Amino acid sequence: MSPKLLIEHALEEVLKSFENQGGPESLNKAIRHAVIPGGARIRPQLCLAVAFACGNDDPKLAMGAAVALELMHCGSLVHDDLPCFDNAELRRGIPSVHAAYGERLAVLAGDALIVMAFEALLHSAEDSLNRLAPVMKIVAQGVGVPNGIIAGQAWECEPKVNLRTYQKAKTGALFSAATSAGASAAGSNPLVWATLGDSLGEAYQVADDIRDVIGDMQSLGKPVGKDIELDRPSATRQLGLDGAVEYFDELVARAIHSIPECPGQDMLKKLVLSESERLVPNALYDRVQKELVQKSNKTSTV
Ligand code: IPE
Ligand code: IPE
Ligand code: MG
Ligand code: MG
Repeated sequence: MSPKLLIEHALEEVLKSFENQGGPESLNKAIRHAVIPGGARIRPQLCLAVAFACGNDDPKLAMGAAVALELMHCGSLVHDDLPCFDNAELRRGIPSVHAAYGERLAVLAGDALIVMAFEALLHSAEDSLNRLAPVMKIVAQGVGVPNGIIAGQAWECEPKVNLRTYQKAKTGALFSAATSAGASAAGSNPLVWATLGDSLGEAYQVADDIRDVIGDMQSLGKPVGKDIELDRPSATRQLGLDGAVEYFDELVARAIHSIPECPGQDMLKKLVLSESERLVPNALYDRVQKELVQKSNKTSTV
């Protein structure tokens, strides 16, 4: 079974184990809606890939960390789509949680996913309690204050923000947590993997900014043009489209270069390369460039 399918199974198992215990039905439905159908599941895949590269001698804990990171991510998207943040009605090609279940249940579903993530991690570590503390610390730091994704969202409430600081926290933090937690779950030194997580996380957010400009709602499954509409700092606004694509390529190269020599080195390189092509397909960028040239030729001849 592919790592992505294994992750889908593990997420389904966690959801079922909570649903089977009862609780308010609409909240359970809202939580499920936030998690399934999923998106790229890139954070848990990254976590597992690094755990493999480090020998993966505790697969249950590595999967627990992977699942926890994805649940945190899903919760963060529920909150991000709320009217008080990005006011987005579509996520992963279906109505966002607040559009489907209302704001009150969306706030609670997001909260519940954060707590569920810690419980899932705890459960996966029953036989390896000595490794639980470092893994849990990594996950918590990727999510909380001062440098996690919650802090990243909060930078949007400040009058002034440095783009790198904002993006590092908003997106980079959970990617760094993914590589570090994968290593730590396998009993390895997480610091060796920090640059991979940092560079990939930043690349991912730069790609998201590029797609917000040149992507379309149907293929992305979420609204585009939000950065300008909401006056958010973004790589394309700061560096221009070409500059942002150049920076993206630089970050991907940095990520690949940082992968230490290990048994899973080739597999990790392939994962980073295929993700970078999925995020900013060369063909899409070339088409947009051609359209821009055509447009400017037209305006210069009138
Ligand atoms: C979306 O993340 C939010 C960002 C931080 C860019 P993803 O692009 O990983 O979303 P899904 O999980 O695939 O839907
Ligand atoms: C979402 O960032 C980041 C978090 C939820 C932490 P964005 O608002 O840029 O992502 P999308 O475009 O809605 O997925
Ligand atoms: Mg946002
Ligand atoms: Mg958003």
